[in-house]
Amino acid sequence: MYFPVYRPRRLRKNETLRRMVRETKLSVDDFIYPLFAIHGRKVRNEICSMPGIAQLSVDLAVKEAEEAFNLGIPAVILFGIPKKKDPRGSEAYARSGIIQQAIRAIKDRLPDMAVITDVCLCEYTSHGHCGVVVKDQVDNDATLELLAKMALSHAEAGADMVAPSDMMDGRVKAIREILDQNGFENIPIMSYAAKHASGFYGPFREAAESTPQFGDRRSYQMDPANPREALREACLDVQEGADIIMVKPALAYLDIIRAVREEINLPVGAYSVSGEYSMIKAAAQRGWLEEERVMMEVLTSIKRAGADLILTYFAKEAAKVLQRKA
Ligand code: PBG
Repeated sequence: MYFPVYRPRRLRKNETLRRMVRETKLSVDDFIYPLFAIHGRKVRNEICSMPGIAQLSVDLAVKEAEEAFNLGIPAVILFGIPKKKDPRGSEAYARSGIIQQAIRAIKDRLPDMAVITDVCLCEYTSHGHCGVVVKDQVDNDATLELLAKMALSHAEAGADMVAPSDMMDGRVKAIREILDQNGFENIPIMSYAAKHASGFYGPFREAAESTPQFGDRRSYQMDPANPREALREACLDVQEGADIIMVKPALAYLDIIRAVREEINLPVGAYSVSGEYSMIKAAAQRGWLEEERVMMEVLTSIKRAGADLILTYFAKEAAKVLQRKA
């Protein structure tokens, strides 16, 4: 069927027809909204490089979660800024830690919202690395024990799901084991399975105050050039008991999202990270891009690539657009 018999433009003629043949539909159900929790009351520290995003004390984090929930967003993922950092990141697994407080407060107010927690030490360690440092190296096996403790303390505080983002080998297994041994066999693990050593995390490190004090994360996060390795990582995490496989970042890694989608029959998540958000915000502030249009286009492309779940700082804004268009 060739031109002039077939004319693809026929089905693009108006919005009604376009709506009928649209292949990818974003839904508010896809979104997970990241929140940064900090000690104190009524604290709202705006993050300069991420307009609209702030470190929030628990009282305000609850309000922000509630706003998101009322827009239909089913889940938040929590990051914490501790009072004090130390080499072993002890606040990460303290009962009174900032995340543990935030989980309890959000679940108390919004029992039906899914509270997911990021499991990683970098926000809590004085050196800013994602694990225990021994002779200037991040020690894999010594870190597993702390990550497991951290995940358990989140579950004990009431988290609905834990999401390890440290990239240590064997961490999904270690977390699955400790959760199961303590009666949390029904708490799912969303693994940051293919997490790349990316420049796109820059603004997040301002938000979470987690910049490494020496070196970088390339000895544990993945090389951005390695799609086959990304699949190996994803398969390992499936074997270790992951329930959801995540790829991170999203926009520069759409091929990897697609490959994981095709290879693995678990839900696939994609983290549209801080730098992806900041780029659009910055260009829009200069009038160089239409913010809403580009935001929806990027989120649609992540879904089109194969993501079932999208972690995005745009969750609230995109939810409002979807509501308006419904
Ligand atoms: C913690 C973690 C990071 C992000 C999520 N969890 C930062 C990092 O690995 O340096 C990045 C999220 C973002 O940029 O939005 N390890």
